[in-house]
Amino acid sequence: MPDPLRLGIAGLGTVGIGVVKIIRQHAAVLEARTGRKIEISAVSARSKDKDRGVPLTSYGWEDDPVALATRDDVDVFVELMGGSDGPAKAATEAAIAAGKDVVTANKAMLALYGQPLAEQAENAGRVIRFEAAVAGGIPVVKALTEGLAGNEIQRVMGVMNGTCNYILTQMQDTRQGYNALFAEADKLGYLEADPNLDVGGIDAGHKLALLASIAFGTQVDFDAIELEGIQNITLEDIDAAQDMGYKIKLLGVTQMTGRGLEQRMSPCLVPDSSPLGQLDGGTNMVVIEGDQVGQIVLRGAGAGEGPTASAVMSDILDIARGIRVSTFGQPANTLVTAKPAKATTPAPYYLRMMLQDKPGALAKVASVLGEAGISIDRMRQYGHDNTSAPVLIVTHKTTRDSLDTALKGFETIDVMETAPVAIRIEQL
Ligand code: NAP
Ligand code: HSE
Repeated sequence: MPDPLRLGIAGLGTVGIGVVKIIRQHAAVLEARTGRKIEISAVSARSKDKDRGVPLTSYGWEDDPVALATRDDVDVFVELMGGSDGPAKAATEAAIAAGKDVVTANKAMLALYGQPLAEQAENAGRVIRFEAAVAGGIPVVKALTEGLAGNEIQRVMGVMNGTCNYILTQMQDTRQGYNALFAEADKLGYLEADPNLDVGGIDAGHKLALLASIAFGTQVDFDAIELEGIQNITLEDIDAAQDMGYKIKLLGVTQMTGRGLEQRMSPCLVPDSSPLGQLDGGTNMVVIEGDQVGQIVLRGAGAGEGPTASAVMSDILDIARGIRVSTFGQPANTLVTAKPAKATTPAPYYLRMMLQDKPGALAKVASVLGEAGISIDRMRQYGHDNTSAPVLIVTHKTTRDSLDTALKGFETIDVMETAPVAIRIEQL
């Protein structure tokens, strides 16, 4: 019988405790599937005394995750603390230097430091695996690196943040503003330690950057993502979208174009009846298009204890089975630097603006749009008092460059009460 695979787990929060539970509950089946016992040698968290609802006294304890990562009785360091820098990165580096493989759910760390960490691991003959970092329980990293490895990937898109999808769908269903829905998302274990990462689109952007790297063989470039969160979305937008037959989703899209690598994560209107439009709660969906396979749609729980721990386990089991795939699906030193490109495919845009209710206000707006080469498809002015007038405009298809020109133009006219909200209407 081969030696057991010995784990050191740093982080005993939502995901860490989920992993401990699976290892305890499914010990026999995990051993049957890999031919090895999966054992926890030691764990680490900030507070040793916290009741975490699972007995932990049979495992060793380290206050310092770096000490855990370098223990002699640890084969795989499982990093489930979070945070792009600090202890997570220090312990990951220390683990690799000490000859350990690493499994992590930390998209923030990999989106910023994935390249040097992967190179360090590969130079040392170790692996870093991160299935849980993208789309929770959906095995999308495995799908791209293994199942679809024979394809030239054309496009990857999807809804990749459970918190945002939960908030947007609950806003519509319960009529609460997104602030009021934080607490519920928190109870479900969806939120990042800093929820601004969720609602600001940053967490989903981290995930998109990781998928783009695998899909297109490029170095992770989070800074190149066109990023926008859901903080400015109001019930008015959700209602207006519904009137027009759309839902608002925080949608990520990446594709390699003639102008470079497009990566965008922003609220979009998607057809209500489309699979993405029908996605409720913390569910995620990732759509992958390959030249040979056509379109693959993966859908499932994008966050929370069980689903995320399930993904962590798949990486641990791969290591136990001796399956060793490069972090980004090919050796890190062969990943190329991509030129960033803005959204290339023209699309209609939804614009919501609050105008001063005075003669000529609308004409100035129309003039800015006209000068940017943007044609109006539909327009509605509604519910106004005597001082301000809310206006909704749907444009004909236009480019992101033209839209940006118009948004700059709006800053120069003296009739806007607040900055307009612009949402792309995605043609799926
Ligand atoms: P969490 O519930 O906040 O748990 C974090 C854990 O890390 C806690 O046990 C905490 O200790 C420990 N910790 C934090 N700083 C530490 C330090 N300096 N030294 C030792 N331990 C430290 O977080 P989570 O939701 O489980 O998320 C963990 C990771 O998984 C993050 O990278 C997150 O982005 C990722 N992720 C989460 C989900 C999800 O649905 N939650 C899904 C996918 C990926 P104490 O408990 O003592 O405070
Ligand atoms: N905060 C993340 C989300 C956790 O809401 O999707 C899963 O990555």
